[in-house]
Amino acid sequence: MKDGFGRTVSYLRISVTEDCDLGCLYCRAGSAMPSSESRLACLSRSGRVSAGPLSAGDFVAVVSAAARLGVDKVRITGGEPLLREDILDIVSGIAAVPGLRDLALTTNGTGLSRLAAELKRAGLGRVNVSLDSLDPGAYALITGGGDLGAVLGGIEDAKKAGLSPLRINTVLVRGINDGGIGDFIALTRAEAIDVRFIELMPISPDPDLEARMVSSAEILASHPELVPDDPSSPDGPGAVARYYRVPGFRGRVGFISPMTGSFCSGCNRLRLRADGRLRPCLGSRDEVDLLPALRSDPGRIGELLALAIGMKPERHLFGPGFSPDRTMDSIGG
Ligand code: 5AD
Repeated sequence: MKDGFGRTVSYLRISVTEDCDLGCLYCRAGSAMPSSESRLACLSRSGRVSAGPLSAGDFVAVVSAAARLGVDKVRITGGEPLLREDILDIVSGIAAVPGLRDLALTTNGTGLSRLAAELKRAGLGRVNVSLDSLDPGAYALITGGGDLGAVLGGIEDAKKAGLSPLRINTVLVRGINDGGIGDFIALTRAEAIDVRFIELMPISPDPDLEARMVSSAEILASHPELVPDDPSSPDGPGAVARYYRVPGFRGRVGFISPMTGSFCSGCNRLRLRADGRLRPCLGSRDEVDLLPALRSDPGRIGELLALAIGMKPERHLFGPGFSPDRTMDSIGG
């Protein structure tokens, strides 16, 4: 289905929980002060979470209606989706919806060792792992105490389970993890994985972080060994990453540039928050609440999806004067 600017919306991102077992400094409210008690409090909320307001059946109902409108790609995200006790039911329910060509999941990787094989069996195609440093100390600092070894083990298990292509998403924060760019590029030497650098967006709990955004152009300028990848590489419609590689390396290096790039003209996505509200755009506050229809009038879900698609703004509102009403963990990363 087309939005008001001629863009075909074919990609639904579903946040299945706002809970997370990490407290990344640019993502979660209450995580802004490095190593403060509030960040440790985030961690103490770790553990599996029970179903939120939306059940596995609710997600399947939304995906079924979305597929009828032409959505063929779904990403399950959060919060940390692998914390949901019923994550395998959610995956298998969505995987069984006719018409989907791509079912992916974004995770921080802490639960991947435990779940990779079962996720694959449930019908998941692939995973993106959020990983901001390959240095254990820096990783713990950014995530509020996260264990890098567990995530690297999870990545290995995801590869073994056949969840591919595997992607790593890295958000650089100047002065904190921008020293690790070379390590990530080096990772693509032997591994057939894509490492993608995402420009920090101003939807952080700490507005001062905005000034620490590292632009894609800056990384490219300091890494002349990166050459544009064969543009014929299949990446589907609405792809936001531009890919490069070091000649001879197996993996690619991607750049996602919401702050400096022309990002919105090819936007094909719609987001569903864990509380049942649809977000037509990450960088605007508009929402459409699906929960009442899910509870009492499921026949209206398609109509409300179409309403949200029609509300997509021409471009995101990040920039001077933008003040986020929510952090990424509650919108769905
Ligand atoms: N800017 C850019 N990316 C962000 N993410 C979370 N918050 C931000 C932000 N403020 C990323 C996470 C993860 C993905 C789901 O969203 O690092 O990779």
